[in-house]
Amino acid sequence: MNEVARIGTHVKGLDERLEGGIPVGFTVLISGPSGSLKSSLAFNMIYHSSKDQGLKSLYLSVEQSRESLLKQATSLGYSMEGMNDLNIVDLANLRQEAGGTGRENWFTSLKDILIRYVEEFDCQILVIDSLDALYALSNLENPRNEIFNFFEVLRGMNLTTFIVSEMPREGSSFGKYGVEEFLSDGIIHLRLREIEVGKTTSVRRYIGVAKMRSTKHDLDYYPLLVDKSGFEILVD
Ligand SMILES: Nc1ncnc2c1ncn2[C@@H]1O[C@H](COP(=O)(O)OP(=O)(O)OP(=O)(O)O)[C@@H](O)[C@H]1O
Ligand SMILES: [Mg+2]
Repeated sequence: MNEVARIGTHVKGLDERLEGGIPVGFTVLISGPSGSLKSSLAFNMIYHSSKDQGLKSLYLSVEQSRESLLKQATSLGYSMEGMNDLNIVDLANLRQEAGGTGRENWFTSLKDILIRYVEEFDCQILVIDSLDALYALSNLENPRNEIFNFFEVLRGMNLTTFIVSEMPREGSSFGKYGVEEFLSDGIIHLRLREIEVGKTTSVRRYIGVAKMRSTKHDLDYYPLLVDKSGFEILVD
């Protein structure tokens, strides 16, 4: 029996294919193209971890405003009533917290801000949405080196971290600089694929676990469904 403590993905059908979920303390990429449900999946994980497992979390929304993220969550049927352990911080909050000129290297200043927030909220789970938004805000002189250091800081914080990473629809690299995938302990890959339905072309969402250290899992991609009752994979 595997004794590692795990955090559920809370995607129906997926956790049992992951020995129960993601090992506590892991840094996991959620990679996929725009609209593949990266943010919603990350939100779903911390929402249920908080509601069902009593874990405290911080969602760092660099791309979307707090308001827009909450709007999307409401549209997907999540009620925020009593969810006091789920903290959302957006770029406007970050800028205020940084108190700088706006020209600083975000990647560097974020580390200190993150440590402060994590202490303040006493949280066990962190979501960074997205890595690419941080890249866009930073002037990385030596990206591979700075990313390496950033992951080191995350590892040192004793958290389970989900990092959202944008990738092109047909891309094969899970992060912009290629180092993200081997620095992370796990990769959840969201894909969009076009299929022909009669005369119409439609796009379907798929989810696969491309990597999860310390975990026996398959490498299959499953259709991913989401509605007001939650996330679910379709299994034959
Ligand atoms: N109530 C809903 N039920 C089902 N799907 C919804 C609902 N509301 C929004 N969606 C879907 O969620 C998608 C957006 O999901 P999400 O923001 O999680 O994707 P993302 O991968 O984070 O995208 P981006 O890269 O643009 O941030 C929308 O394109 C829409 O198809
Ligand atoms: Mg998103």
